[in-house]
Amino acid sequence: MKERLLKIEKLKKEKDAVILAHYYVNDEIQEIADYIGDSYYLSKIAVELPQKVIVFCGVTFMGESAKILSPEKTVIMPEALADCPMAHMASLEKIAEVRQNYEDLAVVCYINSTAEIKKAVDVCVTSSNALKIVRALPQQNIYFVPDQNLGQYIASQVPEKHFIFNDGYCHVHDEIMIDEVEAAKAAHPNAKVLVHPECTMTVIGAADYVGSTAGIIDYATASDADEFIIGTEIGIFHQLRKNNPNKKFYTINQNQICPNMKKITLAKVAYALENGINQMEVDEETRNRAVLALEKMLELAK
Ligand code: 13P
Ligand code: SF4
Repeated sequence: MKERLLKIEKLKKEKDAVILAHYYVNDEIQEIADYIGDSYYLSKIAVELPQKVIVFCGVTFMGESAKILSPEKTVIMPEALADCPMAHMASLEKIAEVRQNYEDLAVVCYINSTAEIKKAVDVCVTSSNALKIVRALPQQNIYFVPDQNLGQYIASQVPEKHFIFNDGYCHVHDEIMIDEVEAAKAAHPNAKVLVHPECTMTVIGAADYVGSTAGIIDYATASDADEFIIGTEIGIFHQLRKNNPNKKFYTINQNQICPNMKKITLAKVAYALENGINQMEVDEETRNRAVLALEKMLELAK
């Protein structure tokens, strides 16, 4: 293990590389990351970093967004098959159909989506900036893709706009059930319930706080409470516990695991960096169109 860590450090210097990681990856990957954060933070920092090579420890849409925003950089994915199923749950045909039905429409796209979909939308959002961006849009009608849960949560906070939903979802968050939340609350009556907006509205209704991964960590860290029930992927527990060694954190069920994020290992990081494999490629035509929605997100989220 120690040897592998030293090797990664040496390779990083040789190749002018930086390691970015999402909060859901394995603990040992979080430990070697130079920057760790939620999807919004990672998309912003990837643009600002001076290094030529980004090793992106996350799922495909994250590395793809970094490449679209910084085409001059080499973006390496340690595991090419680490993909987010929800990113494939929107359809170009459906977007075209909804556009025909509404004149005053913005297609708002969760960053958890493919570059093909990003080409056809008006703006991207993440869970930490979606509210701000949707409120700032001049359009009255919002077609929110691909996540129906995040879309419904945003709609509940922006009642003055009309929303059309898509049927995508994240299996990790969608499978957190209200009776499981109630059981966790009964077992830990003093705990605050913190959930990600990819959870269903019923679960969100039982929460004390709803926010992105970074939002959940910040809330727990700033809170006076000592115990928290966490409604998101289990990888977040690493930073929660590191930042708050005296507080207690509980899961809601046994399946709060994103199998794709967990595919990334130290061995794969070392191998990909050493051999320059799994470089993210986005063709120019796709990039030129998809970048507009991502840049608009960065602009409106400021
Ligand atoms: P965050 O932007 O909150 O980190 O969420 C990313 C994600 O994939 C949630 O499932
Ligand atoms: Fe996708 Fe869900 Fe995994 Fe996030 S937790 S990357 S939304 S499958």
